[in-house]
Amino acid sequence: MINLKTIASGKEDLDRYEVENNFQSWSYQPDRSPPRVVSAKGVRFTTEDGRERLDFSSCFVSHNIGHQDPRVIEAICRQAGTLTSFAPSMSTRPRALLTRMLAEITPGDLSRSFVSLGGAEANEAAIKICHQVTGRRKIMTRFRSYHGGTTASMTVSTGDARSWAQVLGGAELIRVPQPYCYRCMFGLTYPDCALRCVKYIDEVIALEGGGEKVAGIIFEPVTGANGIIVPPPEYFPELRGICDKWGVLMIADEVMTGFGRTGKWFAMNHWDVVPDIMTMAKGMTCGYLPLGATIVRKHIGDHFKDHFFSHGATYAGHALGCATALAVIPIYQEDNLIENSAKMGAYLLDRARELQERHACVGDVRGMGLFVGLELVKNKKTKEPLIPLDAKIRPGTNPKLEIAKRLGELGMMAMAANPANVIAMAPPLIISKAEIDEGVAIMDKALEAGDAYAEKIG
Ligand SMILES: Cc1ncc(COP(=O)(O)O)c(C=O)c1O
Repeated sequence: MINLKTIASGKEDLDRYEVENNFQSWSYQPDRSPPRVVSAKGVRFTTEDGRERLDFSSCFVSHNIGHQDPRVIEAICRQAGTLTSFAPSMSTRPRALLTRMLAEITPGDLSRSFVSLGGAEANEAAIKICHQVTGRRKIMTRFRSYHGGTTASMTVSTGDARSWAQVLGGAELIRVPQPYCYRCMFGLTYPDCALRCVKYIDEVIALEGGGEKVAGIIFEPVTGANGIIVPPPEYFPELRGICDKWGVLMIADEVMTGFGRTGKWFAMNHWDVVPDIMTMAKGMTCGYLPLGATIVRKHIGDHFKDHFFSHGATYAGHALGCATALAVIPIYQEDNLIENSAKMGAYLLDRARELQERHACVGDVRGMGLFVGLELVKNKKTKEPLIPLDAKIRPGTNPKLEIAKRLGELGMMAMAANPANVIAMAPPLIISKAEIDEGVAIMDKALEAGDAYAEKIG
């Protein structure tokens, strides 16, 4: 008979299960268990050895309100005692209230949501809605994007080495460049470039069959795992114009950037541009329970009054997940977290620029709100990247992992193992100035491991 008593549960046993029974995401399967986290509070977490560490990445840019907030735990317990979930063909109070709340905090007339369990699922729904509404098949995406680990979301995660082994590709996928000014694919410099990258999209849509064939474009407003790429201010207003011209739907993937991360509720608020479809997850429940959502503008929602909505899931609109989001979302305003993200983000960006001056391996610093990246190079003048693009999927070619290891030893977690040459600092939005100083001091020491690979200039 299987029960917990029949499974040995000493420290060595758990370590062995991690190595023999668990699949670790996006990595060669390790021969040692990663450190085991036993508790977390606020901006810190504690491992089994009793050590407390600073969470400078909000786990995966998800735990925006910090760990173990009692208000959320209480709401989860209350809902769990009443109704954890029910068949999505029936209404529940948390689902009805959450979809209304999302309509109130998102820009423009975004108003009807499909509530799922995470970011990849939210993007799957967005792509399907795009196909169903336009009747067109082609989806446009930008190189250096990550939209999730499921098949379609991974297919549009193009130029991310994690997707190379598993993209579907084919004629229905169109790839265009990012507004990545540090490494412009057109070799131009902003603002003299007159935004070649966005004008190029217009040309590509025309060449790919325009309003007949191209259904939508999916993008991260500020690119996350592939390098904290912040677009120039004119980029999204111009892209909106191009999409309107062709009837191409804009899908803003706000899975990382949503819920205050960039200093506004959603990153698209910075440019006053309303996308046709917006996806969200992470900061909606901050990891207290898994949840994602795909919200669409009114006319898109209305389309499905007399067209079959061909999407669904057993746990769509999960009541416990929705109740969690209902507890989390008001905290952003109650605790002024969005303002804190803007204010502390500006401070973190300044401190990151000091790191750039001090370290041979830091070629560029970019950010918006508490979403700040350090781009690592071998040579600041030539901008030769510190690691090759495929370092994440090839063994033995990733000095960035040494920085990540050093950060761990020094007592901090940052997003240092992502595929790009960028270390992202994205602490919970509750972070204080003193805690930022603490994190920057640790980063300062850890970057010495990167300097060892960089060429010293002048
Ligand atoms: C921009 C973006 N979209 C989608 C996803 C996928 O979200 P999930 O891991 O919840 O499926 C991620 C995850 O990191 C992300 O950063």
